[in-house]
Amino acid sequence: MTRSQVIEMLNTKPAGALLVRADRARAATCGESVHLRGIIEYSNHCGRRCAYCGINADNRSLQRYRLTMAQVRTIAAEAVGRGVRTIVLQAGEDPAFTADKIAAIVETVKLLGDVAVTLSCGEFHRDAYRRMRDAGADRYLIKFETSNEALYERLHPDSRLDDRLCCIRDLADLGFQTGSGSLVGLPEQTVEDIADDLLLAVALELDMATFSPFLPHPQTPLAAETGGTGELALRTLAAARLLLPHAHIPVSTALATACDDGYRRGLQAGANVVMANLTPPDAARHYDLYPGKTTRRAGRDPVDHLRGLIESLGRTTATDRGDSLRQAPVGAGRSER
Ligand code: 5AD
Repeated sequence: MTRSQVIEMLNTKPAGALLVRADRARAATCGESVHLRGIIEYSNHCGRRCAYCGINADNRSLQRYRLTMAQVRTIAAEAVGRGVRTIVLQAGEDPAFTADKIAAIVETVKLLGDVAVTLSCGEFHRDAYRRMRDAGADRYLIKFETSNEALYERLHPDSRLDDRLCCIRDLADLGFQTGSGSLVGLPEQTVEDIADDLLLAVALELDMATFSPFLPHPQTPLAAETGGTGELALRTLAAARLLLPHAHIPVSTALATACDDGYRRGLQAGANVVMANLTPPDAARHYDLYPGKTTRRAGRDPVDHLRGLIESLGRTTATDRGDSLRQAPVGAGRSER
């Protein structure tokens, strides 16, 4: 697909036919099963100052927390006992969680059974990633956030797009299944930029791709910005499915926050993955990436809720681990899946 075709897709209004095409593509490559991942946000400490992010180091009004290894283990054990086959461990870039410490957590979770572990804890040197991989981590999620270098540098005063992309390549090289993607609706981002994000996702040969709306957070430099709409995020998700037929594509929590009925709409526009937040509510309300994220309905179990939702759409909750659907190229060092 050419860049102008991607731009045309992103501009499709009304989007109905595009979303239906994406839903059909999802059915053809992923079938009717939906992967339910369980995410544990183990620390909201972060040394970075990403302009959009509510847990950035400059947000002094945020109460910071760290879960203990024992807490993570208990939460993961319960989820695995209930049939969750992937545990996603996510955190800010917290210097207290060194590669060795993260590796130790991975080892603990991997002992719980035949469960995949996805890490999402930011930029590390290749050797640190190797340590995590050796400990048994299967996948790594690290968004490039935007493919527009100038925009990237404006939003990230302390990092560079090239370093980010280098991390993604290192991870793939080390045999991780890789997940990445971008934010849509960033200030000054154009539809051409989003098309480039999608084409970058294709070029990176991602196993998982995620595109979610930017939602302005009041305690950040971007507080007064407009943010991305659920509609644009849905069109981007649909375009991603058409461009990356074999990628796992989640309904991001930000999409579910940005639009009513976001889980259903995302699952019917190309997505085949959802994430249940397993972080204890007392901590989760401080994992405040964007407004609205932390509101969990009292008494509602996220795993049961999402299973119910999947079934209400006539889909089934997958019982397998949901590893990459892409064919590993022979002899390419990505074959240990
Ligand atoms: N709106 C939407 N997504 C956000 N993230 C951080 N801040 C925001 C925001 N304001 C996302 C980033 C990051 C992930 C952990 O959370 O894309 O990669």
